[in-house]
Amino acid sequence: MCAIRASEARDEPTVERKADHIRINLNEDVSAKGVTSGFERYRFQHCALPEIDLDRVDTGTAILGRRLGAPLLISCMTGGVPEAGKINMALARVAQELHLAMGLGSGRVLLESPDVLPTFDVRPLAPDALLFANLGAVQLNRGVTPEQCKRLVGLLRADGLVLHLNALQEALQPEGDTVFGGLLDRIGELCGALDVPVIAKEVGWGISADIVRGLFEAGVAAVDVAGAGGTSWSEVEKHRMDDPVRRQVAAAFADWGLPTADALRGARRAAPEGIIFASGGLKDGMDVAKAVALGADLAGLAGPFLRAASESEDAAFGLAVEIVEVLRTVMFCTGSATIEDLRRTPRLVASTASFRAASEILRLRTADAGQFLDITDEVLAVVARSGIRDGVVHVFSNHTTGAIRINENEPLLISDFQRLLERLAPTGGYEHDELDRRPGIPADEPRNGHAHGRHLLLSSSETLPLVAGEVTLGSWQRIFFIELCSSRDRSVTIQVVGS
Ligand SMILES: Cc1cc2nc3c(=O)[nH]c(=O)nc-3n(C[C@H](O)[C@H](O)[C@H](O)COP(=O)(O)O)c2cc1C
Repeated sequence: MCAIRASEARDEPTVERKADHIRINLNEDVSAKGVTSGFERYRFQHCALPEIDLDRVDTGTAILGRRLGAPLLISCMTGGVPEAGKINMALARVAQELHLAMGLGSGRVLLESPDVLPTFDVRPLAPDALLFANLGAVQLNRGVTPEQCKRLVGLLRADGLVLHLNALQEALQPEGDTVFGGLLDRIGELCGALDVPVIAKEVGWGISADIVRGLFEAGVAAVDVAGAGGTSWSEVEKHRMDDPVRRQVAAAFADWGLPTADALRGARRAAPEGIIFASGGLKDGMDVAKAVALGADLAGLAGPFLRAASESEDAAFGLAVEIVEVLRTVMFCTGSATIEDLRRTPRLVASTASFRAASEILRLRTADAGQFLDITDEVLAVVARSGIRDGVVHVFSNHTTGAIRINENEPLLISDFQRLLERLAPTGGYEHDELDRRPGIPADEPRNGHAHGRHLLLSSSETLPLVAGEVTLGSWQRIFFIELCSSRDRSVTIQVVGS
């Protein structure tokens, strides 16, 4: 209660900000620059003989206890000012008519000023929609209590509470709340206290796999990755600034964030059974279909619905119908009778048009024979610099007495390996070491038949899968360069191939 009182002085700016956001989103170019949602990297493979009837294709799905006409979410946007109210009402009627999911904008202003309820109160118009209330997660660190969250959900008769994670937006706003320390614990406490599902979302910069895992462990019911490629909130905030330096700071983040398709795939890998929503830069029904085929339970659009609803309710309705019809047609032409079939379709393929390779040479100075040099971080840095997100990483030693191997970096185990190699290929006793029988060798040629023998038992290289920007190493796996001869200058070629 105290925090809300303390921030009452900010009522006016909160309301003004909401009005600014709508105006800027409708009148300025706020799209991300230099980063795309990533859905354009995929294509459906046409099925000439789907073996189903179009009128048997069912776009319906069930999420969080509600039956939906399609896995489509009108993403959280607005409330608090009269124009927001009009937009919410138009979108609510669309959600009701087509049985869709809909999110409302941040309810902080409603907690502060209950008189703005009519601008949020869409439940009477959309009794069957899956409806979400919304709050900035950081407000949990500013004194907003589980009781107040319950009150918000109750006021709106929502089916769940969406918490948005918007660290970058808050950092750019002059009035932003940036106290993100310990927030995951607060989210966990709230999940335990609410009797409706809590959903965590970003606002257009994506949620990486490690954070998705942490959020589900904390108790959220679903995660919306809300990735990059659509509305960019650094661009929106830039248009609210007069100070040229601050504008430049905001402009630096125009290409920030995880492409939505990559974030979605990472999230699906991190939580194979979790409920995952995908939003951020989805434009149309084709993107919605691709999101489902990449593992999304629900696909969301914000900016496109805002623009359509500000034109007219008919335009918003038309957009939603078009999305569902494209989805239905994709399902038919991929032989997917149900959303579950589409989710499992093998007919979504990554476009190979952008296949490329990047390589770097890693130069090392080894210390001694038997040294296991952990080069994992260097390999991951090369992958990150390559910009390639899907493919393989090949790590190749350019030497016949220096090997590449993946194993655990545990000192006792490494001593075991060193002794094992000594037993398998002991030092001495190799014809290769009889230097007088090898014409033309340099004067300092080492007697290292054992090192070559050990190398033969190991390998020159390892190949690792690269999926959605992550090298899929297991938690204990590390990449080693293994020195089998003596202290040397060594080189390792790291090649990343993919798209
Ligand atoms: C006008 C507007 C207001 C928004 N307000 C909120 C909000 O209050 N809470 C929230 O979680 N996300 C908010 N968003 C973010 C969207 O839900 C979404 O994550 C983001 O815009 C990316 O989706 P898009 O590319 O389809 O626009 C807003 C988006 C718009 C366009």
